[in-house]
Amino acid sequence: MCGIVGAIAQRDIVPVLVEGLRRLEYRGYDSAGIAVLNGSGALKRVRTVGKVQILQDAIDGSPTHGPIGIAHTRWATHGVPSERNAHPHISDDGLAIVHNGIIENHEALRAELSASGYTFTSDTDTEVIAHRIHHHLKKGGTLLEAVGHTVAELEGAYALAVVSESDPERIILAREGCPVVIGLGKNENFVASDIAALLPQTRTFVFLEEGDVAEVTRTSVRITDRSGKPVERKIHESELSADAADKGQYAHFMLKEIHEQPRAVADTLQERVANGRLLEAAFGPAATEVFAKTEAVHIIACGTSYHAGFVARYLIEQLANIPCSVEIASEFRYRSPVVPRNTLFVTISQSGETADTLAALRLAKQAGYLSSLAICNVPESSLVRESELVMLTRAGPEIGVASTKAFTTQIAALGLLVVALAKSHGATPEQERTLVTRLVELPGIIEKTLALDPIIQDLAKRFVEKHHALFLGRGTMYPIAMEGSLKLKEISYIHAEAYAAGELKHGPLALVDDDMPVIAVAPNTDLLEKLKSNLMEVKARGGELIVFADPESGMKSSDGVTVITMPKHVSYIQAPVVYTIPLQMLSYHVATARGTDVDKPRNLAKSVTVE
Ligand code: G6P
Repeated sequence: MCGIVGAIAQRDIVPVLVEGLRRLEYRGYDSAGIAVLNGSGALKRVRTVGKVQILQDAIDGSPTHGPIGIAHTRWATHGVPSERNAHPHISDDGLAIVHNGIIENHEALRAELSASGYTFTSDTDTEVIAHRIHHHLKKGGTLLEAVGHTVAELEGAYALAVVSESDPERIILAREGCPVVIGLGKNENFVASDIAALLPQTRTFVFLEEGDVAEVTRTSVRITDRSGKPVERKIHESELSADAADKGQYAHFMLKEIHEQPRAVADTLQERVANGRLLEAAFGPAATEVFAKTEAVHIIACGTSYHAGFVARYLIEQLANIPCSVEIASEFRYRSPVVPRNTLFVTISQSGETADTLAALRLAKQAGYLSSLAICNVPESSLVRESELVMLTRAGPEIGVASTKAFTTQIAALGLLVVALAKSHGATPEQERTLVTRLVELPGIIEKTLALDPIIQDLAKRFVEKHHALFLGRGTMYPIAMEGSLKLKEISYIHAEAYAAGELKHGPLALVDDDMPVIAVAPNTDLLEKLKSNLMEVKARGGELIVFADPESGMKSSDGVTVITMPKHVSYIQAPVVYTIPLQMLSYHVATARGTDVDKPRNLAKSVTVE
C-alpha cells in the first residue's frame, strides 16, 4: 500500500524522507517520489518508477535539498504505475500533495476543475485534491483553511500531506479512513503513514483521528477535528527500536520472521498465563464481565488473519462450547447482519489498519453486538484504539508481506480467548490448566518443527517447475491448509488451492494427476482416519502426495507418497500453530528456488488501507 513521509526541520530533510520511504518499502509499492521546498521556498519534485533506490539515484543525479518536504511510495489504484502517476502531485504555484486512499467522487470534481481551467497531467484521483486545494487557496485564507475546505468536499478515504510555496513553513495533514501520524522532534517534526518510517528520528508520536486536519510546523502541532474545533490528541511513546525492522543474518525478512515464532508466541503468552491459569490481566477486568455474558462469537478479518479466525471457530465451539461464526470483512461490511443476543464481535488484524476490517468494526458498533474485541499486532493502530477490548499479539514488526509470525501469534492469542470463554462457561480449573499448559508448550514444539528445515528445503525442489498445488486438511487443519495454499501462491506465484479433504471427491479430484502435488496436514486427531481415506483417493489417481504427519499416524512414505514426520504428541489446541510451520517453510523455499521477490511479492501490499 502507499506510504507517506514528511519532515520540517532546520537541516536538509531529503535523507530523512528517503530513509523513511525505505522503511515503508515492505508495505508494497510500484513507484516513489519526493517534493522539497528548498531554503528559499521553491518547490522541487523528483519521481521514479520502481524501487526507492531508483529514486535515490535520480536525486543524486539532480541534487535536491531543503528543510521541508513530503515523499511517497505509490501502490497503483487509479492509473498505471508510471512517473506521471507517481506522487507527489502538483497544482499551480508550487502546491504539492501526497495521498493514500481512494477518492470516490474524483470524477465529478475533476470535471468541475477542468471546466474552470485546471489541466491534469496524471490519471490519479490525487491530482484532483491538489487542484481543489489550490482553487480554495486562490480565494484567500491559509493553506490549512484551503485543505479544510477541500477535505469537506471529498468522499472516500485519505491520508494526505500538503506543502506549498505560498506558505512554506508548514505541512498540512488530513485523515479520513487511512492512518497518519505526527512524529515529534526537537525543533523539527515529522509525518508518516506508519511509525516505522520515523523510528530513526523519534519515538514520540501523535496519531490523527478520523476527520482530523493538522498543521505541523518546526516547533508546533495544531489539530482540529471534523467540526473545525481545536483538539488535543494523546502523545504516545513507542517502544519499538529503530533496528526492529532489520533482517540481521537472514536472507529475507520472511525467513527471519519464521524463525522468530518461538519467541513471538512466548511473548504473546507472557504475563497472561501463570501456574496453569489464565490471568485476568490477559484481556483486562472489563472482559471478564463481557465473557460471562457471551452467548455467541462473531469473528471478522481479512487474508491470513481470516484463516486464524477460521481456526478459532473450531476451537471455540469444541473447547468453550459457544457458537462461533467467522467471516471475511469485505463481505460482512456490505450485508445487514442479524445479530444473535449477546454476541461478542472479534476482529483479527496484524496491522490494525485494514480498511475492510476497520469498516466492519464501525458497522458492528451500530449493529447491537455485546462488545468488540480486537486481536491485533500494532498497539497504536486504529483497530486497537476503536475497540472496547484488546489483546495484543506481540509478534513485533512483521515486514515480509506474507504473514508468518503474526498468524501463529494470532492463533496463540485466540487460544487464550478460548480459555477465557471456556472458563466463563463452566470449564473446571483442571481443564483450564490443561489448555494453558498446552499453549505454554508451543514455543518448544515450534522450535522442534523448525529443525525440519533441511528436509523441507529439499522437498521444495520438486515444486520449482509446478504450476498448481492442492492443499488438504480436515477440522482445524482445513484453515491451516488454506493458509498453506495462500502462502505458496503469494510468494511463489504457483496457483494453489485448499480444500476440506472431505470435499475432494466433489470436484478437485478431477484435477489430480502426476503433475499436481497434493499436500496434506495430518496431526493425530479424531479425523485422521477420515483424512487417510481421502488421501488414498489421491493416491489411487496417481497423484503425488506429500503429508506432514504425526509420528503415530501410521503413515509411511511409499511410491508417490512422501511422509514428513512432525514432532510427537501435538495436541488439538497446538496443532494449528505447529502444522503451519512446515507450510511456511515450504512456500519460502519454493519461492527462493524460483527466484521471486519473497518479501515483496508482486502486486501485493502488507497493509491494505484502501477498500
Ligand atoms: C494483506 C496482507 C496479508 C494480511 C491481510 C490482512 O493482504 O498481505 O498478509 O493477512 O492484508 O491484514 P491485517 O493487517 O488486517 O491482518
